[in-house]
Amino acid sequence: MSRLLLVSNRLPVTVKAEKEHVSVVRSAGGLATGLSGPHERSGGLWIGWPGDVSRLSSPQRAEVESQLAALRCVPLYLSPSEVARFYEGYSNRVLWPLCHYLLDRMPRHHRDWDAYAKANERFAELVARHYQPGDTIWVHDYQLMLVPGLLRERLPEARIGYFHHIPFPSSEIFQTLPHREKLLRGLLGADVVGFHTPGYAYHFSSALLRVLGLETDMDHVTHEGRIVRLGSFPMGIDAESFERLAHDPGVLGEVSVIQERSDGQRLLLGIDRLDYTKGIPRRLLAVQRLLEREPAWRGRLRLVQVAVPSRTQVEDYAAYRDKVDELVGRINGQYGTVHNVPVHYLYRSFNERQLVGLYRAADVMLVTPIRDGMNLVAKEFCAARPDEDGVLILSEFAGAATELRDAVIVNPYDIDGMADAIEHALEMPVEERRRRMRALRAQVKSRDVHWWVSHFLDTLQSVPQRSTKP
Ligand code: UDP
Ligand code: G6P
Repeated sequence: MSRLLLVSNRLPVTVKAEKEHVSVVRSAGGLATGLSGPHERSGGLWIGWPGDVSRLSSPQRAEVESQLAALRCVPLYLSPSEVARFYEGYSNRVLWPLCHYLLDRMPRHHRDWDAYAKANERFAELVARHYQPGDTIWVHDYQLMLVPGLLRERLPEARIGYFHHIPFPSSEIFQTLPHREKLLRGLLGADVVGFHTPGYAYHFSSALLRVLGLETDMDHVTHEGRIVRLGSFPMGIDAESFERLAHDPGVLGEVSVIQERSDGQRLLLGIDRLDYTKGIPRRLLAVQRLLEREPAWRGRLRLVQVAVPSRTQVEDYAAYRDKVDELVGRINGQYGTVHNVPVHYLYRSFNERQLVGLYRAADVMLVTPIRDGMNLVAKEFCAARPDEDGVLILSEFAGAATELRDAVIVNPYDIDGMADAIEHALEMPVEERRRRMRALRAQVKSRDVHWWVSHFLDTLQSVPQRSTKP
């Protein structure tokens, strides 16, 4: 039987150990949350890392394995050195900042390249071991850019797709990577290489031309006698499930509680992993600027900012956390009263129901990354608003801005402009709010996660396979 083998560094669940008790919890991030539904429906396998298991006893490890097996997840355990060098090192200290145009965050030496290459080999080995003829392999994201090529060597006839969940930067930026050639060749092992936007696909094509001298013909490139399709496949969300939750009586009860306790204050909302690409400090500064120049808003609005802990062992993330903590403290110190504070900061993660409660209660959703591959939170907010109310403020540097043109689009580098946009959103007449939200919801519902999966997999099926048989 033909199965879908999903391959990503992080599995949709992560191991959580508390004293004697060990369990698996939902992983953070759009890749894991977005692909969970398609995985449940596909009946295939998901191969990836379940998080740190180094402190688990053997019985605990066995317990984890049985929980993962029940979810059709195949674990690849990373050693502490692989976590430090492949995951935190090359993936998150080199590729992550590079793809988000943050060259000054990159280390001077790329010492972790060999660990990245070796870990990619381990992933390819494990996938090849589970592969059965007829299976479709779908590799995800920047941590595994060499895997398609490594799989092609092992399984010349397999159908292999790759999707890049983060921006693919301009070739001028990509070219600064010493290992640019190997990474591009790794991706070309796939039959289809997909991106969230036409812009990222275009950047990839120009990198192929400038680094490898390969010319793209419309939507494909010929490499080592094989056709590799390139394209834009904007990822969607399970809009129906968010809408269903938005009608749930329990969730609506929670929305009423949030609104009653707001004491007439308008609610601004931010929901992000605590990542330096998400633009949280600039967002806070925009709120501060509004309060500074428009005293009438003091005491009449509050920002609820959820910041999900992420990559806490990487120094830049720790420093970013300090910066956000300090700014929140400064703004609350300056504009808070004995009754309320302008920024309600929550450093933890919430489940879907809780998130939908917040989405539905918000007057204005602030999605203002300085750079973001797509940003699913923006789409979830729209799906969770069957009341056709609420205003989405969206950074022009999020992939989602290519599709969600009816949001209030902002430049996160322009603090005054963002302060203006927040005020405009708070004062927007109800007819305009409804018109925009209707259009946003239609977009999010028609291009949902099911559309995304079929669009990608149909394209993958349409690529002619080269048979190795004589
Ligand atoms: N999310 C979550 N709990 C939280 C905050 C966020 O489950 O407390 C989920 C959110 O619903 C979304 C994902 O995390 O599906 C974030 O995806 P996005 O594309 O916005 O950003 P990423 O974290 O992948 O950079
Ligand atoms: C982004 C990346 C994913 C990653 C997620 C969470 O969404 O595109 O590949 O899984 O962030 O980050 P983490 O490092 O915890 O896996």
